[in-house]
This record gives sequence, structure tokens and C-alpha cells, in this order.
Amino acid sequence: MNKRLLVTGRLPGEVMASLKEEFEVEANSEDKPFSRQKLLQSIRDKDGLISMITDNIDDEVLNVASHLKMVAHFGVGYNNIDVKAASARGILVSNTPGVLTDATAELAFSLILAIARRLVECDKITREGRFQYWAPMLFLGREVTGKTLGIIGLGQIGKAVALRAKGFTMRVLYHNRKRIKVSEEKALHAKYVSLKTLLMESDFVSLHVPLTEHTKYLIGADELSLMKPTAYLINTSRGPVVDERALLNALREKKIGGAGLDVYENEPALTPGLEELDNVILLPHVGSGTLETRIRMATMAMANLIAGLNGEVPPNLVNPEVLTHRGRAK
Ligand code: DGY
Repeated sequence: MNKRLLVTGRLPGEVMASLKEEFEVEANSEDKPFSRQKLLQSIRDKDGLISMITDNIDDEVLNVASHLKMVAHFGVGYNNIDVKAASARGILVSNTPGVLTDATAELAFSLILAIARRLVECDKITREGRFQYWAPMLFLGREVTGKTLGIIGLGQIGKAVALRAKGFTMRVLYHNRKRIKVSEEKALHAKYVSLKTLLMESDFVSLHVPLTEHTKYLIGADELSLMKPTAYLINTSRGPVVDERALLNALREKKIGGAGLDVYENEPALTPGLEELDNVILLPHVGSGTLETRIRMATMAMANLIAGLNGEVPPNLVNPEVLTHRGRAK
């Protein structure tokens, strides 16, 4: 009998068709996430799971999933999965790094341009018929070219943002846990600085860190107060990296120039008040949301799953400690 697979999100049709050739699939056919109850019920008899960021894969879920051998996460950030608990049960966990780098960097850069040039505000007044005459001072934005971009987290996505900044002749500062190689810094024209210097000197601060216990509230009231009153904060990483209430206050009081957000502290809920402000652009977590990328992510999740369920090492395994546990050869 084919292995049983649960897919909790609606995936591109061609990848779903391939999955159905390999597995006995139960899939969510809607864009609304499975309820907790549905997840707990459906996971019971499954050998594999393709999970979404909207699923909380915790102890309770893993406890009822007595057949589960592999969680192939559809996404690069897997903070929604209790990896330790999975490892303790010998369950493999994989993610989809690399394939969404360009799409996410493109979105971060779109937010940089859109907030600086007030695109959403301009679109709104034009649509509403309020564009009555051209005027020298109408909807003035800020220039991006030649400005300073501070990247917090210079991993794959952060580097892809730095590369795009070169086209705008931006000065790039970065802060990381670990400094990258000098040759790479040179290639990206990126300078390593402390978090404080980055916040004080940047015109745009773009976040590209994973959500961990160390990065939760990395940007709070103190950090926002270090930013220039004209600077913009861009977040395409994870919502809880920013203290959203502190950000709301900073935006309300015009302590910073504005923000471009794709992710939220209590997603999908917004901190009330955010939606009333003109100096923030709010997107519904679409960083990796291009058709090309979503097909690549689904294909990669499938490849990981097939490998894992066939006793091989999934190419994008995030908990290799499981292999030692199981005494695997590779
Ligand atoms: C990712 O890949 O981490 C995206 O944010 C979707 O979860």
C-alpha cells in the first residue's frame, strides 16, 4: 500500500498530481488552514506531512501522529515546528531553502521602493479621483538611490537584497551573528557593523533573520528610537522579530519615516491602529508568493518527502541529529 500523506495547504496543481502518483494523499483543497481539530484528526494515520507556516506542529500533534516519519515543511522558516520534539520521536524535518530567495528579496525591495515613493498612498488618491493637477510638491517621497541600507541577517535572502541594492548604488551595512567572509563582503559592497551603528546610520533597515528565542523582539522601542526619524523599517522575515506595539507607537508619533510589513506579530491579526496609518504598507505574508517559487517550493518539499520516506537522507534535512539516533548510514 502507498504511504499516506497529509498536505495541509492547497499546492500548485502539477505538484499535487505528482504527489498523488506517489502517495495516498489527503490534502486541504482550500486556502483556509486546517483547524486544530482537523489537523489532530487527519495526522493520526499519516506517514508523511507537508506542513505550512499556519500549522502549529507541537508535542500534542506529534503525540497523536503515531505513524509519522517525516515532516516536509513548505517554507524556509520552520519556527512553527517543535523540531526538538520531532527529533525525540525520530521524525525527520526538512524545509525549502534557496528556492524562495529571489522572490523574497524582490518583495523586500518592492517594499523599500513602495514605502519610500508612497506608492500605495498615490494609488489610492488616483483611484479615488483625487488626482486633480500635477504639482511640484505633490506626494513627495524619498529617493532610494545612494541611500544607506542596513540588513539585519545577511543569510541567503539578506545577500540577495544586498545584491539588488548595488543596482541602486546604495551603501550597504549589515549585522549578523557571524561576520561573512571578507571576499563576500567585497562582492556585495557590504560593511559589517554593530546593531546600534546599523540602526543609527541606515535609511532603510531590512530584517532577514529567522525567528528564534534570540531574535524575538530584536526590534523594540529602544531599537526604533535609535533609527533616523526619516528611516524606514522593512520586515519580510517573521512578525515577532518586531515588537509590533512599539512599532505602532513609533509610526504614530513619526519617530521613524515609515514601515513596510509582510509579516505580523500575531499573524494574521494586526495590532489595532496599524491599518489606520499612511506611513506603513501592509502585505499578507506574500514574500515567497510567486507562481514560479511556489512550484519550486512544493517540488522541493516533495523531493524531501520521497527521500525521507524511502529511507534516504532528505536533501534539506534540518534535524540531522535524528540520523544518529536512528543509526543511519548517511
Ligand atoms: C517561508 O518560507 O518561511 C515563508 O515565509 C513561508 O512560510
